This record gives sequence, structure tokens and C-alpha cells, in this order.
Amino acid sequence: MSRSKGTYYITTPIYYPSSNLHIGHTYCTVMADAMARFKRITGHEVMFLTGTDEHGQKIQKVAQEKGLSPQEHVDGIVAGIVKLWETMEISYDDFIRTTEDRHKRRVQEIFRRINAKGDIYRGEYEGWYCTPCEAFWTETQLVDGKCPDCGREVELTKEPAYFFRLSRYQDRLIELFETNPEFLQPESRRNEMLQFARQGLEDLCISRSSFDWGIKVPLDETQVIYVWLDALSNYVTALGWPEETGKYDKFWPADVHLVGKEIVRFHTIIWPAMLMSMDVPLPKKVLGHGWLLLEGGKMSKSRGNVVDPVKLIGRYGVDALKYFLLREYSFGQDGLYTNEVMLNRINSDLANDLGNLLSRTVSMIEKYNDGTVPPPADEDDGFAAALKEVAVSAAGKVEGHMEAFAFNRALEEIWTLVSRTNKYIDETAPWALAKDETARGALCATLYNLAESLRIVSILITPFMHGTAEEIRRQLGIGDEPVHWDDASRFGLLGAASVSKGRPLFPRLDVAKELEALEGLA
Ligand code: ME8
Ligand code: MG
Repeated sequence: MSRSKGTYYITTPIYYPSSNLHIGHTYCTVMADAMARFKRITGHEVMFLTGTDEHGQKIQKVAQEKGLSPQEHVDGIVAGIVKLWETMEISYDDFIRTTEDRHKRRVQEIFRRINAKGDIYRGEYEGWYCTPCEAFWTETQLVDGKCPDCGREVELTKEPAYFFRLSRYQDRLIELFETNPEFLQPESRRNEMLQFARQGLEDLCISRSSFDWGIKVPLDETQVIYVWLDALSNYVTALGWPEETGKYDKFWPADVHLVGKEIVRFHTIIWPAMLMSMDVPLPKKVLGHGWLLLEGGKMSKSRGNVVDPVKLIGRYGVDALKYFLLREYSFGQDGLYTNEVMLNRINSDLANDLGNLLSRTVSMIEKYNDGTVPPPADEDDGFAAALKEVAVSAAGKVEGHMEAFAFNRALEEIWTLVSRTNKYIDETAPWALAKDETARGALCATLYNLAESLRIVSILITPFMHGTAEEIRRQLGIGDEPVHWDDASRFGLLGAASVSKGRPLFPRLDVAKELEALEGLA
């Protein structure tokens, strides 16, 4: 794209490489990827960052259990994560590992700067620690003696430590939530955090000495920096802050940190306070998405009830999984995952609606016009106007939904066009027109409009399932032509392309059989 609409910086959480990722992580990364691709195709210069959060007690424990050094352990898991994103064609621009030198030295610099601000002091930590969440809690914050976030056991911790004067930033944080409703969404999360801040913020313990898998506190080798301080910093260390200013000047502040709702607190209380102390501007927006739940509750690595994306991709393909995740769930809300819901979604929307539309269109062009898309005819088949109206207005509606991170609505809008086009086939009945010599003009107009409508669909789905988009374009005979988003709002661009039939985009699944097979894989 020649015109630039400015830059766009989007991040995912950096995931813990405690074990392989599951479909919940995939969900967040797929959303970020779709948004990054959407922003690129609509003319923005995008920075899409993801990575791994490799320090902390949890990782050290898991490595120990496996008889590996922490570094050996994370290297193995991270290789698998990188491979997963490669398989899923995740278009990140940088992948940051917190064990990288570029990150470690910059985190130490952050610690130094916060210290130079007078915001760090030495003290003694006495309280409760939740290792799965890597979170500190006071006695009164516990719920029934358990972690208030995840409900698991906490450990009594007592050790000398450094503290961050979070309390100093309480008023500024309250003001942030009150005066800038854009900063944290959905709205319900903002109210929660406002409540949390109003209850009073205690200073935060930001170092540990009871284990050593972490970044050393500058000038105190006995302490490692608290893993959340380390992890949150990734959003600026990956840009080269503070000593490399090129990317930082271009992309900071981030447009959006996409995070699961359980870590909104870290991103909207601790992270802004750190940035205030560092004299660095705040990110524009933190978006807390909902959880994918299984019938037994939240899917989670430490509970062992997970759905493995690799198995689903192996059976149904990357685009089917991406489509399902983006179409089925509403941003900000929890959603129940079941194999059945997924299989039905793939069958109805992909195999039936989209797959059939393409195969019928290509077959009819082969059969009735020797495989060449006829020229756009002036002749009207009587139904084209209604189709065109839906087709040219879809892109604008998709843009609107994407502004709101409503991926499901965006796809729904595109499928309105898919369905409208299928209905157009029924209305025009090309097979009947083909039997009538005098209807030749109408038949050609119909075939053209079908192919043209699919061309528009192929552009619209590019950010969400670009492999499928490419295959549609290949079958339409325009596989080599560049994809421009603006071309989705214009009807009549397609030239005399030669179509070529390919394999079905999404073979129809036998749901009962697949359910059985998936149970067997569990
Ligand atoms: O929290 N449903 O890493 P993490 C939806 N390292 N999303 C889910 C999910 C589910 N069931 N399970 C996980 C950490 N996620 C820290 C982050 S950032 C500076 C540090 C997604 O491996 C969701 O986005 O526990 C959640 O916030 C993230 O994975 C947590 O990944
Ligand atoms: Mg977690």
C-alpha cells in the first residue's frame, strides 16, 4: 500500500513456556494476528509483538521436575511455540524472549531508573505468594485462604526484598481510569480496576531471593527482579528502549495491549505505574478478552484440561481453526469450547456456505462459458442490483466492527455477502438460463456477478484466513494479482480471468465420526 495511515503497535501477552500452549493462547494470538493483518491491508505500518515470559519460580519448578536446567526447559518449549506460530501463519514482526540479553539489560535499566526516581526501597516481604499466577497477596486479599485470582494454594513467603512505591501512583491511576475511558475496555473491567485502585494500593514487592531464575537486581546479586516487572517491560524493551530510539519513537505508545481478563490488573495498575515512574507515556489501550471455558471450567495448563491446537489444525487446517475462534466468540466475554460447536461451525459456514459457493461458481463458469469469466455485461438478470448493494457495502461495515475488535461481527458481515451470493444463484438459476439461447446475456451477467462477488469476499477474508483467500483467488484465475482492500468496495473490477477448479476449500465433516476421533486423540 502506498498511502500510510500511520503506525499501529499491537501486542499479545508473552506466554509462560511452562508447557505447550493450548487453544486459549491460540485464541488471543489469532485475534492479534487478524488485527495486525487488517491494519496492514488498510494501510498502516504495523508492529505486532509476541514472545515468551521465561523467568520466575513457576518455570524453575517445572524445569526441576523434568530434571532440566530452566534454560534447557524453556528452549525446548519455546521452539515448539515458535513452530506453532509458524504453522498458524502468525504474522508477528518480533518475538521477544525475556531470557534474551537485549531484554535483560534493559529491564535492569528500568529498575535503575525507577530507583533513581526514589520509587524503590529495601524492606522485608511477608505475605502470600501464588506461584501459578506469580502474584503477591496480603492475608486480607485471600479468599478462603486461597489465591483470589485462580483459587489455588498460596505459599507463605518471608524474605528481604525490594519494594516499588505503587502507593504513590494511586491518585494518578484513579484519574487515568476516570478521565480516559478508552484506556481500559471492556467497561466492566474498567470499573473493577477503578474499585481496586480506590481501595488503596499497597507498595509492590518487586524482587525475590528464595530462588534465582530471573534477572538480577542491579547492585544486589542476591535478588532477582519480580517476574511481572520483568515481563511487562517487554513491550518497550522489544522496541529497543531506552538506548535504541528508532522503533521506540515510531511505535510507542502501543495502540493496544491485548490480554486475557485475568492479567488486566497487571497491565492497568502495575504497568502504567512503572511507566509513570520511568517518565514514559502510557499505552493507548488495554483490552481484556474473555476466557475459553471447557465444560469443567477454565482451560489451563496447570489444571491439565486443555485443547491442543496442533491436533485441530492437523485435522481441519489452520484457517478453519482461525475462522472458528474469531467467529464463534464475542470479545470480552467468556465462551464455552466444545468440539461439537467447532465442527458444526466449520461445516455450516465454511464447507457449506463458502466452499459450495466457490465450487458452484467455478463449475458453472467452466460448464457454461468454457472456463473464462465473461465480461461484465450491461444486461441485467433482474437480481444483480440487490447483490451489488450488499457486496460494495461490506468492507465499510467490516472496518467498523474491527475498530471495536468485534471479529465475530466482521465475519458475520462477510458471511452476509456469502449467503446473499448463494441466494443469488437460487434466484437466477443459471442452469435454467443455460437452456435458453435467448438468455445468453443474462447467463453471462450472472456468472460475472458471482465471480465478482467472490473476488470481493476473497479480499474481505484476507486478514482472517489468507490461505483460503489465496486459494479462492487462484481458482478464480486472479492468484497473481495484488490484493488491495479498497478494491473490495468496487463492483466490476474483475477481468476475463480463466478459472480453474481445485480441491474443495473445506471438505464436509461427518460430525459424529469426528467427535469420536477427537475423543480418541484427547
Ligand atoms: O499470564 N481462554 O502468561 P500465560 C482465553 N506470562 N485465553 C487464554 C486462556 C483461556 N482459557 N488461557 C490463556 C501470562 N489465555 C504472563 C503474561 S504479559 C506481560 C505476561 C491467554 O501463559 C490469555 O490471553 O498464563 C491470557 O491472558 C494469556 O493467555 C496468559 O498466558
Ligand atoms: Mg495464566
